[in-house]
Amino acid sequence: MKKLLVLCIIALGIAACGGGDKDDKKETTTPTSSTEENENPSYDPKRGAGKFTKVDVSPTLEVAKADAGEKVYSVKCGACHKLTQEKLVGPGWKNITGRHTAEWIMNFATNPDEMLNKDPKAQAMLEICLVRMPNQNLSDDDARNVYEFMRKNDGVK
Ligand code: HEC
Repeated sequence: MKKLLVLCIIALGIAACGGGDKDDKKETTTPTSSTEENENPSYDPKRGAGKFTKVDVSPTLEVAKADAGEKVYSVKCGACHKLTQEKLVGPGWKNITGRHTAEWIMNFATNPDEMLNKDPKAQAMLEICLVRMPNQNLSDDDARNVYEFMRKNDGVK
């Protein structure tokens, strides 16, 4: 059993470090000539599935949000997620903001069931972790605050 866990950690380490999708966040949206909402139901893997379509992120850390997010983390997330790259039940959070967009992270955090059913990256994690992340019933504010705490953990000042 120990061996399996170690293997899992190694596998995750590789998966976590191997992702060459660092510039996901920088992708510019192609200008569209119409202003109507995109009703296309096809899945957008950068955004994920859920209510968050556009998250405003400031270049510098929003300290109050990060502090509130740290509290949410210790109550609701820390049992399964470490702040290093090491896997616990779920993946470690180091560099998570480089692996995913803010929208993806906040959608996953508030809507894990649908994302685990639809999202290729989430499904790959599930194969490694073997546990479906339970819905933590986060409020929108909590999701945003936890995201800010992740940015702090990734070195944003
Ligand atoms: C019971 C354990 C558990 C708890 C508690 C938990 N998670 Fe997870 N989380 C997981 C697992 C397991 C995965 C990997 C996907 C899967 O297998 O479901 C995951 C994946 C994630 C991911 C994607 C990680 C990546 O590297 O791509 C995010 C984001 C996330 N969780 C956020 C949260 C937040 C925010 C909280 C607290 C509000 C939380 N999780 C609480 C188990 C948990």
